[in-house]
Amino acid sequence: MSWLVTGGAGYIGGHVVRRMRAQGYQVVVYDDLSTGVADRVPEGVPLCVGNLLDRDALTDVMRIHNVTGVVNLAARKSVPESTSDPMLYHRDNVSGFIAVLDAMKDAGVRHIVQSSSAAIYGGAPGPVHAEITPADPLSPYATTKLMAELILKDAAAAGHLSYLALRYFNPVGALAPELAEVGGANVFTILFNAIDSGEVFGVTGDDFDTRDGSGLRDYIHIEDLADAHVAAVEYISGHEAGDVVNIGTGRGYTVFEMLEAVRQVTGQPVPHKVVDRRPGDAAGAVAAVERAERLLGWRARYDLMDMVDSAWTMWRAQRDGVPV
Ligand code: WQD
Repeated sequence: MSWLVTGGAGYIGGHVVRRMRAQGYQVVVYDDLSTGVADRVPEGVPLCVGNLLDRDALTDVMRIHNVTGVVNLAARKSVPESTSDPMLYHRDNVSGFIAVLDAMKDAGVRHIVQSSSAAIYGGAPGPVHAEITPADPLSPYATTKLMAELILKDAAAAGHLSYLALRYFNPVGALAPELAEVGGANVFTILFNAIDSGEVFGVTGDDFDTRDGSGLRDYIHIEDLADAHVAAVEYISGHEAGDVVNIGTGRGYTVFEMLEAVRQVTGQPVPHKVVDRRPGDAAGAVAAVERAERLLGWRARYDLMDMVDSAWTMWRAQRDGVPV
């Protein structure tokens, strides 16, 4: 018996694979390596290189490896790219996702943990979002994540599968240099690049309705996020499930607070200036965490300083090619 992790060579996938293995799960990775990195897949874990739209290849992998459930992380995740090329996102994140469900049906696999996103809440009044908050996606990326959730709901209602969709807030950090995300577009990647290149970091707006005017987010340590997947896998292995679950800490930090944490960890002030808001940017997004605690018995353990420390250490280790 093993679990198939699609996108297992990605930033989140690489961590999920490690934490599942640490808990004794056998894991198989399916990834097209378009943004994933083969080095992130540990020794002893089979890496199947294939396209998510290839239903037959997915079915074969599930059958050959005697797969009992799927953690579906393979997706495109850039909000700006989704705005300029929405069909790319609908093809890979929706059609590709349907191919995974079809393959599961072909191979007789019923359990799926789906990667979803707090981006689904988009413009909904916040900052705290419970899972019952009506969705308000503000980008094609967010729309594709919501569509996947709705498809899961219909498939589960027909008795075809049992699922949990995890709505991630803002993951930060890395457990090893090769697992760090250096090419992404999240605020920490932008910030560390600015520090490295001596550029001034732009705070995208200081007139939001938050305690200091800058954007408020629920940053979550990648190890906690990966452990939430293990808890979800355990839960759906023993229950008939059909739920969406927020994965965050329940605590929000503003950009200025985050800059102060980075100053403390790096020992150097971060040159910054206030620039224009990003189009459609949310003021605040913080997870209501009760459902995760109740359903999965999971809660985040790490705080902002732990995340920043982990992110900065592994960022530098990868940049300098030195082991930690
Ligand atoms: C965090 C905070 C900005 C850049 C994330 C992912 C996105 C998507 C949805 C993917 C905000 C501020 C940012 C900068 C800044 N999902 N900021 N200067 O907005 O929650 O979006 O979730 O998987 O790809 O990024 O996170 O990291 O973009 O921004 O001040 O140059 O940092 O206003 O408050 P967000 P983020």
